[in-house]
Order: sequence, then C-alpha cells, then structure tokens
Amino acid sequence: MEDPLAARTSKAEGAIDTSSSGVSLAPPALVPLDVILPSEPLLLMGAGPVPIPHAVARANGVVINHLGATMERVIENLKSMARYAFQTRSDKVMGVAGPASAAMEMAVTNLLWPGRRCLCLKTGTFSGRLGEMAAAVGAEVTTLEPETGQPVTAEVVRHALAKGRFDVVTLVQGETSCGVLNDELPEIAALARAHGALSIVDAVVTLSTMPLEMDRWGLDAVVTGGQKGLSSIPGVSLIAFSERAWHTIERRPVPPTHWCFDAMRAQRFWGAHQYHYTAPVPGILALYEALRLVCEEGLEARHARHRVSSQSLQAGLEAMGLRLFIPAKHRLNSVIAISLPDGVDSKVVLAHMSRKFRVEISGSFGLDIVRVGQMGEQCRSHNLFKVLYATGMSFRHFGVKLDVSEGLAELERALTREQEFE
Ligand SMILES: Cc1ncc(COP(=O)(O)O)c(C=O)c1O
Repeated sequence: MEDPLAARTSKAEGAIDTSSSGVSLAPPALVPLDVILPSEPLLLMGAGPVPIPHAVARANGVVINHLGATMERVIENLKSMARYAFQTRSDKVMGVAGPASAAMEMAVTNLLWPGRRCLCLKTGTFSGRLGEMAAAVGAEVTTLEPETGQPVTAEVVRHALAKGRFDVVTLVQGETSCGVLNDELPEIAALARAHGALSIVDAVVTLSTMPLEMDRWGLDAVVTGGQKGLSSIPGVSLIAFSERAWHTIERRPVPPTHWCFDAMRAQRFWGAHQYHYTAPVPGILALYEALRLVCEEGLEARHARHRVSSQSLQAGLEAMGLRLFIPAKHRLNSVIAISLPDGVDSKVVLAHMSRKFRVEISGSFGLDIVRVGQMGEQCRSHNLFKVLYATGMSFRHFGVKLDVSEGLAELERALTREQEFE
C-alpha cells in the first residue's frame, strides 16, 4: 500500500516543506490572469452581470478609507441617488456587501423570525429563493405558485390573504428565471398592506429598467443587485426599508440570526458613519458612479430606452423565426426568454456563440429556454445588432432554420421608428 505520508515529502505543488522557514506549503503553479481571460472581452448579453460604463470601472479601481469625511460624503450622496432610483423618501436605504441574494437575505432575516408567517409568491427560482430564506429563519412559509411562465395575479393573492394571516408577502417584480413580469405588483402590495402584512420585493433586474415606485406603491423592503439594471459590478447590493418595515425591525422580539445582515447594525454605517464591518469601498464607489449615471439619464428616459431596446430586440428575434417563451402581455423586458428550438442543445449553441461571435447569453434553470439580458448598457443599439446576429447565426449553425437578415431588418425598422434611440 502506498504510504500517504511519502507523497508529502516530494517538492510537488502543495508539498509540506519541513525546513525551519515557517512556510510549509509551496506556492501553486502560477498562471497570470491575462492567460486565463479572453484577449478581447466578451460582450455580456446574458441575465447578468452586464457591461459596465467606463466611469464605473474606473471607480472600482479606487480604495479610500471606509470611514472618515470623504466616505461620509460618498455615502450621503449615494443614498440620495438610491432614493431617487427606488422612488422613496425613506432614509433607511443602505448598501449590502454581497450579491443581490445578500440583500434578499437582509430583508428576510430582519423582517421574519420563528413564528412569523410568510406568503411566498413563487414565479420561479428567485422568488422561490425568498421563500427558502424565510423557511431558513424559522418562519412559517405558505407558497403560492402559478403555472410556469404565468405571473401571480392580485385576485389569487386576495384569495390567499382572505384564507390565512400573514406577516410578510414576498415576491419578485421581474422573474429572470423564466422571463415573466409580475405586472400586478402595485395591486398585490396594496392588498398586503390592507391585510397588515409587509411586502418584500425583489427588484434585482427591474430597478431603473422599468417603473417601480416604492413609496407610491407602498412597498416595505425593496432589494436590487449592482450587476443588473444599474450596470455596476457584482458584489455590492442595495436595500431600502419603509418606515413601517423599520418600525418592525426596531421592535423585533429576537435578535436577527445574521450578524452581517443585521439592519440596525448596518444602519450604524449607512446612517451614522460608524464601523459595522469594513465596507467594500471600490464596489461602493462603482455603485456611486452607476447611480450617478442613472440620475443623469433620468428614470423616464432610462425606462423608455429599456422598453424600446427590449421590444425592438424581441421583434427582431421573432421576425427571425424564434419563439419567445412568455406571451407579450406578461413578458419581462429586462430579460427575454427564448424557447429553445427543437433538437438543439443550448449549452453547445451558447459555447459556439461565445467562441465564434464573442457574445454571451444565458442558459436556464431547467426550462427549455435561453435568455438575453436587456439591462443597463446592454440596451445600446450596437449591442442589439451584435447579439441578434450572434444568436441567429449560432442557432442556424446547428440546423435551426432562421431568417437572420429579416430579423436584423426588423430590428433596424423598430429602432428607427424611435428617433431618440442610440
Ligand atoms: C430576479 C433576481 N433576483 C435575485 C437574483 C440573485 O442575484 P445574485 O446572483 O446577485 O445573488 C437574480 C440573479 O440573477 C435575479 O435575477
């Protein structure tokens, strides 16, 4: 039998060196990042992350002290800009170090605890995730799940609320996993409020890409990630709590289970500029620039850009011969789900697209679809033509009969009907 210790005495990678230097492991084989990264950046046209503007990339390369006067000014300005994006006057707006799921977890772990009842409106993977998080903190979770690809209707929610008592209702505005839009979000939030329940809303792909009015619609906790509609980097997310939600947080009978996501602790940094944990400075600066660009563009213009871009692309995809998974009435503009044509393997098609056209779109979480993102910088005409051409030509390469020229012509017609689009 091989002596397991004998292998450790070689000078191979990871070997234990018994010399007295105080270093017991040798470094691994070194590969410079340039060798790993593609020589030309791929165009990210999937469900996120999305391309970032130069100002955001530049800010992401800067580190300053996370406490002190300069950072205070950054945080105060960032919060004002975030309030505009969320359309809220609430001063309980804060960043979260982590992916959008971290902001979701912050909402859930602060507003729910054992014994609290949660109605989870599940239209796919991400809204389902809110229910999983609620169950993990010991809340009693009831899940309402319409047929795949259908939104949750206010009628169904009204019925569920009439049958039981709930403290929190969770839902997503745009369900990226299948491309459906919960277009009755304002009505559902109003029902939750009338019932005495708080609403937790995932606006990860919809914040700044389509209308969302936190105060006017009476939403209680709204979360978003950096890397989607805001066109910032992944890793710093945003959350906004209503006064009602904050009132609940201040009166929790038990402390939150997650120290990092404890909203009262986080407010020390985001409200009083005191230490909570070391803030992810470059990511916050990147988010600052991303929000500045959102404010500079203005929400109405930004929403219009996203709508025109996505609907023109949808028209191009359909004119080419592809079928869209969600009927127009409930279709999310921020992420377009394309039904996979018969007989093709999405993984193979996407790998070909990436290799040959340097364009990436997303696969799925188990459904027979592929997904194209329409968030932030993805919604520029040069990117639309590239992704449409790459998608059409890649499917065609694997035998799908598509009229790529007609698709491109339709995209051009749709865009030129909108004079202002760039
Ligand atoms: C609607 C929605 N919610 C939540 C998430 C989770 O985001 P993250 O992967 O940054 O945690 C995603 C990611 O795609 C999403 O699309």
